[in-house]
Amino acid sequence: MSSLNAQALSVQYQQQRLQKHILALDTINFAVQSNLFVAIIGPSGCGKSTLLNVIAGLVPPTSGQITINQRVITGPGRDRAMVFQTAALMPWRTVIENAAYGLELQGIARADAQQQAKHYLDLTGLNGFEHSYPHELSGGMQQRVNLARALAISPNILLLDEPLSALDALTRESMQLELQRIWLQSRPTAILVTHDISEAIFLADEVWVMTPRPGQIRARFSIQLPRPRLISHKRQAYFVNLQEEIWQMLGIN
Ligand SMILES: Nc1ncnc2c1ncn2[C@@H]1O[C@H](COP(=O)(O)OP(=O)(O)OP(=O)(O)O)[C@@H](O)[C@H]1O
Ligand SMILES: [Mg+2]
Repeated sequence: MSSLNAQALSVQYQQQRLQKHILALDTINFAVQSNLFVAIIGPSGCGKSTLLNVIAGLVPPTSGQITINQRVITGPGRDRAMVFQTAALMPWRTVIENAAYGLELQGIARADAQQQAKHYLDLTGLNGFEHSYPHELSGGMQQRVNLARALAISPNILLLDEPLSALDALTRESMQLELQRIWLQSRPTAILVTHDISEAIFLADEVWVMTPRPGQIRARFSIQLPRPRLISHKRQAYFVNLQEEIWQMLGIN
């Protein structure tokens, strides 16, 4: 039985001011089993963030539906957590207060929430920065706080919108390892949007390639690499060939 399903899912935005309709997602179907890690790749503007927002319950489908364990998504829920594409920290809260925010929303007492959040700040390498404010951190560190905040609520479904894109290449690879390690510990269903093909292959069980807008899923690649994966796997023939195949599918060569 699969936990996350989309049936003929379409999203059309109305841009009132310009009197324009934009079809962002066009009759998308998928079934994602529990605990699967999916990475989505596709051209800018093809509807990737829109898809995550629909799963998060923040954007309603225009037609079709999306279900979790056969229940139609009608709004946000505790079972899902999202790391947004643009940093979404509250500037007046310290790092630990930001990271504990989702837990506090769930009614968990402040001290307990912060203790739990601290664990995820340690995991994401922010030990020692608990009492800093967001503006005192680098862009990459701010993204890690976002990640810690999402992980802290132990979601069944983790939605990641380019969470590592603000990081330099080295930090990014070490965060890929961290993300894998954290994911292996709790195994939420994960949907990661990324522009980095090697990151997609490295982390995912399945890589989906989307078409230009209106977004549809053009191809799905199943990644047959044992876990835990190592950065050195990125140099293996299997990995490199797959990367090439996905490049071609995106029409970049
Ligand atoms: N709130 C909105 N109102 C109107 N149009 C929107 C809105 N959000 C997105 N769109 C439009 O929908 C399309 C898909 O946007 P979306 O943000 O989902 O793309 P994306 O694949 O995440 O792109 P990127 O890779 O650049 O982040 C775009 O054409 C965008 O202009
Ligand atoms: Mg986006």
